[in-house]
Amino acid sequence: MVLIIDFGSQYNQLIARRVREHHVYCQIEPPYIDVARIKSLRPEGIILSGGPASIYEKGSPRVDKEIFGLGIPVLGICYGMQFMVDALGGRVIRTEKREYGFAQLKIKLASGIFAGISEETRCWMSHGDTIGVLPKGFKTTASTLNTKIAAAENTSMRLYGLQFHPEVVHTPEGKKMMENFLFGICNCIKSWTMKSFARDAVAKIRSQVGSSKVILGLSGGVDSSVVAILLHRAIGRQLQCVFVDNGVLREGEAQKVRDVFRKHFQINLRFTRAKKLFLSRLKGVEDPEKKRKIIGRTFIEVFEREARRIKNVKFLAQGTLYPDVIESRSAFGGPSAVIKSHHNVGGLPKKMRLSLVEPLKHLFKDEVRLLGKELGLSDEQVWRQPFPGPGLAVRIIGEVTEKRLSILRKADVILMDEIRAANLYRKLWQSFTVLLPIKSVGIMGDQRTYENILSIRAVTSEDAMTADWARLPHDLLGRISNRIINEVRGVNRVVYDISSKPPSTIEWE
Ligand code: XMP
Repeated sequence: MVLIIDFGSQYNQLIARRVREHHVYCQIEPPYIDVARIKSLRPEGIILSGGPASIYEKGSPRVDKEIFGLGIPVLGICYGMQFMVDALGGRVIRTEKREYGFAQLKIKLASGIFAGISEETRCWMSHGDTIGVLPKGFKTTASTLNTKIAAAENTSMRLYGLQFHPEVVHTPEGKKMMENFLFGICNCIKSWTMKSFARDAVAKIRSQVGSSKVILGLSGGVDSSVVAILLHRAIGRQLQCVFVDNGVLREGEAQKVRDVFRKHFQINLRFTRAKKLFLSRLKGVEDPEKKRKIIGRTFIEVFEREARRIKNVKFLAQGTLYPDVIESRSAFGGPSAVIKSHHNVGGLPKKMRLSLVEPLKHLFKDEVRLLGKELGLSDEQVWRQPFPGPGLAVRIIGEVTEKRLSILRKADVILMDEIRAANLYRKLWQSFTVLLPIKSVGIMGDQRTYENILSIRAVTSEDAMTADWARLPHDLLGRISNRIINEVRGVNRVVYDISSKPPSTIEWE
């Protein structure tokens, strides 16, 4: 395994993904990790990430410099390199001017990290401070026009530094550099696959859980589905899934979950119909936050009620992913810094006094999908677009009623049909329809109509933090609009949402 010390760079998750793409397991840890723990993890290599701070800033993040003497290869990237230089007696110079963007890298020493790399290659820079003097025993291995010491190494101590970012796509030979570090320098073995992960996870779950029961709120989304299958493989009937039909799901969704998990995978599934309760509480409510809160609270209430009916439950399983874990820590603060709780079931474990089982908490989304495939989930389940916990309620602007839900469901089926037929489902992060709270005048046959307006929302995104509206082909938009207006009673106008996030959000509420 490789240890990544998180100095707060926006790219640190990217470093981890690059390492794992080479089938090497890595873990991101905060700088305040102690050396004893590092030793106990027995990493083959350590990567110090970049970060927004200047080494001279008060409170800038630092890791115990004993790591440089452990004989474990260390690669410092950007701030990580500056930290290494400063800690070992070199000098970092404060500059006012930032260097940001592409630079031409001239390799001086084509071995180690640069083995097999072109003599001149592009790299991506993003730094303020720069290296002035290297510590004793270090050699400059590459330069750019503006940065004399763009890379350096001390081979006898197995320390390497890069001022630029090899992990981003803008450094075209960065992948090869990473490969050189992992295999040429650290002697890592390619052992990280979802098959090996599943095997280890099953053993871990068994030893954590013993003979107790585990409950899991199954939504049918990728993460909870994968958790369900993995737990089922580990503990079989000790797993009890609970599915809550909150009445604001899409057409056929609840039935599909039941068929897949109960019939196909033969998983214990408590299927709870709570539509009436949810809709009665949503009656007359128009405020988006109120709607979200009502749905969240009611979900917890129903889930708890179901859970109480199951005896001997000691654990609650959740589909927490690695980005949630990393983002809930900070490079600067201690463990008390920002804690981000899981969207939908945040308050559950504490209230119910259950311990958590979070078997995906070291995985990225793309790895969860691979794991899902490995465990036998279909492409359709594994590549499902995200669907929010509060469901269609946040896609009906204004009051949620049976009638409006029915309009939205029918329109949604048509949209998805067309998106799939155009082979765009997997290319889009999300695609859905939104029912607006205003009506407009239209004409159908010779009749004046005064009906609802529906908006289509389709976005591309990597991680939902930012998103762009999808440039759907005009004829496809035309077909969707035509079909919705012709086939869904109560809609006479369709519009297309062309806003990006930020400043808009993906969902309308
Ligand atoms: P926004 O609308 O904030 O959404 O741009 C970002 C992503 O999160 C999804 N989303 C949710 N997912 N529970 C969830 O599990 C929620 O309450 C929730 N709200 C929004 C949204 O669909 C998008 O993918």
